[in-house]
Amino acid sequence: MFIFIIFICAVKSSPPEDPIKCLGMVPNSNCTIKNSYGAFPDRSTCRAAKAVYPTSEAELISAVANATISKTKMKVATRYSHSIPKLVCPDGDDGILISTKYLNHVLEVDVSAMTMTVESGVTLRQVIDEAAKAKLALPYGPYWWGLTVGGMLGTGAHGSSLWGDEGYAKVRVLEAGNPELDAAKVSLGVLGVISQVTLQLQPLFKRSVTYMTRNDSNLGEEAASFGRLHEFADFMWYPSQKRVVYRIDDRVSSNTSGNGLNDSPGFRSTASLVVSTLRTTEETQESLRDVDGKCINGRSTTSTLRTMAFGLTNDGILFTGYPIVGYQNRIQASGTCLDSHEDARITVCPWDSRIRGLFFHQTTFSIALSKVKNFIKDIQKLVALEPKSMCGLDLYNGILMRYVTASSAYLGKQEDALDFDITYYRSRDPLIPRLFQDILEEIEQIAVFKYNALPHWGKNRNVAFQGAIQNYKNANEFLKIKQMYDPLGLFSNTWTDQVLGLKDGLSIEKEGCALEGLCICSRDIHCAPKKGYFCQPGKVYEKARVCAKVKIPKNTATGKLS
Ligand SMILES: Cc1cc2nc3c(=O)[nH]c(=O)nc-3n(C[C@H](O)[C@H](O)[C@H](O)COP(=O)(O)OP(=O)(O)OC[C@H]3O[C@@H](n4cnc5c(N)ncnc54)[C@H](O)[C@@H]3O)c2cc1C
Ligand SMILES: *[C@@H]1O[C@H](CO)[C@@H](O)[C@H](O)[C@H]1NC(C)=O
Ligand SMILES: *[C@@H]1O[C@H](CO)[C@@H](O)[C@H](O)[C@H]1NC(C)=O
Ligand SMILES: *[C@@H]1O[C@H](CO)[C@@H](O)[C@H](O)[C@H]1NC(C)=O
Ligand SMILES: *[C@@H]1O[C@H](CO)[C@@H](O)[C@H](O)[C@H]1NC(C)=O
Repeated sequence: MFIFIIFICAVKSSPPEDPIKCLGMVPNSNCTIKNSYGAFPDRSTCRAAKAVYPTSEAELISAVANATISKTKMKVATRYSHSIPKLVCPDGDDGILISTKYLNHVLEVDVSAMTMTVESGVTLRQVIDEAAKAKLALPYGPYWWGLTVGGMLGTGAHGSSLWGDEGYAKVRVLEAGNPELDAAKVSLGVLGVISQVTLQLQPLFKRSVTYMTRNDSNLGEEAASFGRLHEFADFMWYPSQKRVVYRIDDRVSSNTSGNGLNDSPGFRSTASLVVSTLRTTEETQESLRDVDGKCINGRSTTSTLRTMAFGLTNDGILFTGYPIVGYQNRIQASGTCLDSHEDARITVCPWDSRIRGLFFHQTTFSIALSKVKNFIKDIQKLVALEPKSMCGLDLYNGILMRYVTASSAYLGKQEDALDFDITYYRSRDPLIPRLFQDILEEIEQIAVFKYNALPHWGKNRNVAFQGAIQNYKNANEFLKIKQMYDPLGLFSNTWTDQVLGLKDGLSIEKEGCALEGLCICSRDIHCAPKKGYFCQPGKVYEKARVCAKVKIPKNTATGKLS
């Protein structure tokens, strides 16, 4: 979630642009595709010889068949392309993008069975709206309307709950039989095209939300158990402020009065001028090394958000006090910045890459509940050593922590866990380090290597995927099914092969690579020695290797510094 101090609500925003751009003489030929943030982790451009936009399952089958006959690489692309890593790139220049933009129909709602069958390009917003019309609800899901059903399944996207039984979706993968395949639920898109999905819904219900701010002294102790107490619990944690907001959120009887609404500030249309000003402010603070300025802005962002109940209102208009009671479909997710007005120079979703707006990394991983306490304590040790080091996170509303349940999906969560979503400044110039560069690198390495965190497949920098596949006990089953479904690997690319452990090259070693999370530094040149950033051990986790600002480089004979 990304949050801003000033909001424009009256003006509608520009819809995010189509991530596919085709420049060839022949329509839909010579194409490029990017993600919604406008940059992949390695900042490369992805190309494809053509893009197809099937409007029915028959056309989808024909597109896949054509590409298969000619042994052409293909990848499924979605309306907005929200994933950060290079999942969507067909290798080379001559692949095909199959867009689900027009596979956006709800096919059937079965009220008595409480199921809904949709084409895979349907967005979460459509699912929620159509279900509510039939007095049904999707109990657990991501917080942002713009994701498609195919994309959510591709990367295992989630909301926050430990209470859900899994298996809410039956997936229909083209040319595959078993619809309940554990491989298809988190597929990274490498098994084939998901054509249709049947979702298991529940009767529409109400929930009651209260945000409570506390100090973070007991967060480590409470993090593992809080999710057992409240069905939709989550946390927003501001480590440098030593504060955490607990979300106390439960189902209530549907005769409880209240018509609350969630319109999350980070997902609202925002004036383009405001977004670019926020960015310029942060760039200036970074370049002047204005740590205190970042802390002041971080605190004021948090207090503004708290005053406005993080976008919740009691009746759709005003926030008058907790608890907020409302129907699931009005509370579970939001995304009013998807609504359209054509001109991106006026208003946008805050991360829109058409303007010089926000630009950030997202490090997002889940840690088994049994290990969460120690992980949180490690972060608190870093804060004790460098109290202001995490002020920058507060500009993006701190660390969002959500519960995820163990799944039978081969590439899903292996046990009940807490997911940490960390958003932080990324320089437009890949060779310029951030303030407290080392601290977030250390947190990333603590998570991945000390606590065997599982990466969110749709977010992250390369480092988070290093060795990750070894943490999935059924990874080999997944690979067998992939081999069976797609023996030629037409739906795979270099990136998916790398994260699945089939190819080397996940770590890209070059000048400045550690600054962007493309590598873990092993030499100073991987950092920014000319700017005073050298490859150093971690402060809490000695085995970490991070780019730290060192005032006077130590004796080069140690071998640590070159
Ligand atoms: C603003 C924002 C908010 C977010 N909020 C959350 C959140 O609350 N919780 C969370 O877990 N994640 C969240 N994410 C991350 C997001 O869930 C994942 O990146 C998700 O995969 C993106 O979905 P998409 O529809 O854009 O798919 P894409 O990113 O376009 O695709 C993801 C993968 O799925 C494959 N795929 C897509 N459709 C099909 C299909 N029909 N058949 C086969 N393969 C397919 C693609 O080829 C690709 O490999 C958020 C991301 C953004 C940008
Ligand atoms: C494809 O587009 C690129 C610019 O993006 C151009 O340089 C190239 O010549 C084009 N190729 C073809 C075959 O049209
Ligand atoms: C598949 O190929 C056939 C024959 O070349 C063509 O008519 C059809 O339009 C193609 N389908 C798609 C979706 O590209
Ligand atoms: C944190 O809050 C608890 C009560 O919730 C209190 O007992 C404790 O003293 C507080 N700690 C700090 C450091 O303020
Ligand atoms: C709500 O309904 C339940 C039964 O489902 C009933 O016991 C309760 O008294 C009702 N509450 C109100 C406030 O009407």
